[in-house]
Amino acid sequence: SVAPVVMAGGSGTRLWPLSRAGYPKQFLVLSGQYSLFQQSMQRLQALGAPDIQLAAPLVVGNDEHRFLVLEQLREIRVDPAAVLLEPCGRNTAPAMTLAALQALEGGEDPVLVVTPADQTVSDPAAFTAAVQQAVRMAAGGAIVILGITPDRPETGYGYIRTDGATVVRFVEKPDAATAQRYLEEGGYCWNSGMFVLRASAWMKALERFRPDIAAATRVAFASRKTDERFVRPGREEFAAVPSESVDYAVMEHCPGSGMELLMVPLSAGWNDLGAWDAVWQVADKDAQGNTVMGDAIVQDSRNTLVRATSRLVGVVGLDDVVVVETPDAVLVSRRECSQDVKKIVSRLDGQQ
Ligand code: GDD
Ligand code: MG
Repeated sequence: SVAPVVMAGGSGTRLWPLSRAGYPKQFLVLSGQYSLFQQSMQRLQALGAPDIQLAAPLVVGNDEHRFLVLEQLREIRVDPAAVLLEPCGRNTAPAMTLAALQALEGGEDPVLVVTPADQTVSDPAAFTAAVQQAVRMAAGGAIVILGITPDRPETGYGYIRTDGATVVRFVEKPDAATAQRYLEEGGYCWNSGMFVLRASAWMKALERFRPDIAAATRVAFASRKTDERFVRPGREEFAAVPSESVDYAVMEHCPGSGMELLMVPLSAGWNDLGAWDAVWQVADKDAQGNTVMGDAIVQDSRNTLVRATSRLVGVVGLDDVVVVETPDAVLVSRRECSQDVKKIVSRLDGQQ
């Protein structure tokens, strides 16, 4: 069978001040009617086909957000097989490992469709077709990545070079000069952060490249307590797991190693809503290119994103700015600097 897995434990600091530790971006409604987490989950519900038997989904998230997860699943009427709750964030490699260990519990070895919870897709039919193709390719034991055609030298993504369907190079978050070179050279795709693979294929790759993460996560999973759908690895045991992303821990090491890493192109209006600029890119805009949300008035301005949540906000004569108002914090930024909002959050963390 095929088991959807949504990784929803990130903190989304670049969308401060709307995205907060207690209510991170994946649970916010940033475009459309549902939160990013709900949209991710809904997309995966459409994967079933005569040869693809869809199992109930797994969610891996932070213990602090367990009620948000349950409530948001209830709203979209999705009944999860399990919600794995991390007592602290250890990045995506341990999160994926928890999902794989949980999936293997049933005595089967399902194909996992692992997706982030912070992305939008504007063409769901194209998404479904690409993921179904990836599921068929992963059945034989390969790890399959969904790849995106890049349109700018973004440094926040992984870059993939392929030969046919085989990934021959994977570089996570290159510096600006390298990203620019890849774009000029051509032949590179972005890693969408969506991975399709058998649970056993993940464990095998992790055992090979990061046996320390595999061993420590097995210990944490073995110490779990289960309470209805919630599965909680032991606090101390999970805290001892090394923190690393899937990309650095495994994907970068696969090419040339004998582990089969394949890519399926995804052309479905994919967008990672990492920062406010990306939210503006996908949002509805007025004739001047402004996105105005909540109680705000924007005058003689172009290409702005203005979001008011608790007070009236006025913006006059400013182009390309982001203004986000919340009861206890206000952000004013040039739109192109919106990646650097995380620097404010790290300064705030330093003060606490
Ligand atoms: N459960 C859990 N635990 N989930 C996590 C954790 C964690 O500790 N950390 C992050 N996540 C979730 C986030 O909520 C998000 O949905 C997903 O995992 C990816 O994490 P990000 O932190 O957003 O990764 P990224 O955007 O820097 O990079 C990844 O995605 C890019 C595409 O958006 C990489 O896979 C890149 O290679 C890729 O290009
Ligand atoms: Mg991301």
